[in-house]
Amino acid sequence: MFKKSRNKKKTSSNIDLQELDIHNIPKHVAIIMDGNGRWAKKRKMPRIKGHYQGMQTVKTITKQASDLGIEYLTLYTFSTENWTRPESEVNYIMNLPVDFLKTFLPELIEKNVKVETIGFISNLPNSTLKAIEQAKDQTKNNTGLKLIFAMNYGGRAEIVDGVKALYRKVQAKEIAIDDIDEELLSSNLMTKSYPDPELLIRTSGEQRISNFLIWQVSYSEFIFNEKLWPDFDSEELIKCLKIYQNRQRRFGGL
Ligand code: FPP
Repeated sequence: MFKKSRNKKKTSSNIDLQELDIHNIPKHVAIIMDGNGRWAKKRKMPRIKGHYQGMQTVKTITKQASDLGIEYLTLYTFSTENWTRPESEVNYIMNLPVDFLKTFLPELIEKNVKVETIGFISNLPNSTLKAIEQAKDQTKNNTGLKLIFAMNYGGRAEIVDGVKALYRKVQAKEIAIDDIDEELLSSNLMTKSYPDPELLIRTSGEQRISNFLIWQVSYSEFIFNEKLWPDFDSEELIKCLKIYQNRQRRFGGL
């Protein structure tokens, strides 16, 4: 770890950390990785090239997040709505975790990263599921950054599931209806083991939440970054953290 200093400090990726307060790094950063398709289109390449390049950015940002001491990094990898894309694109995205983990798992293990997921993963193709389950298993004792892939994830569906779970508990008389409060619903969501993200970043200039962690981002700071996801890098992440640190979080108070 590096210390806040007036002197120029650099991470392993040689990025200027001046003015970054290492005592105010958000514990949980969530990212909507948008702009892969546009990145490819600008280069007259097929959209899948953008997703491939997006996967490389996932590697860079994971390493940087781990170096910075971020504890949870949740990445919106595939939404419940993304199935409506052309089949060839869906198939390509579904194979990315296989490719990513084949090439990157040793480094994740070395960096003490723990791979986790949120989302309806049992509906993923077998090969995708197998790669993810293997990565989870091989990193299950790691104590560093939690790298959480939101795969086949949708915020509304997650809340509906949580409500159903609570209803079943009421029916089974495990809880009374008046026991239901915000905390109890939170503890019945897929994110129950994680703190709410302090910071949500969306790349590519779009300013939407797109059904991502809609319950959990109630008090998060939102940063809409102009870079297309494949162009997002460590420097941009650190810029976002500096913007975050200059915001005043009031949680409804003064
Ligand atoms: C949004 O860009 C991106 C996605 C729906 C897929 C995200 C996937 C990755 C970044 C790679 C995943 C990597 C791993 C490790 C599994 P878009 O296609 O909507 O871009 P556009 O808005 O420019 O069309």
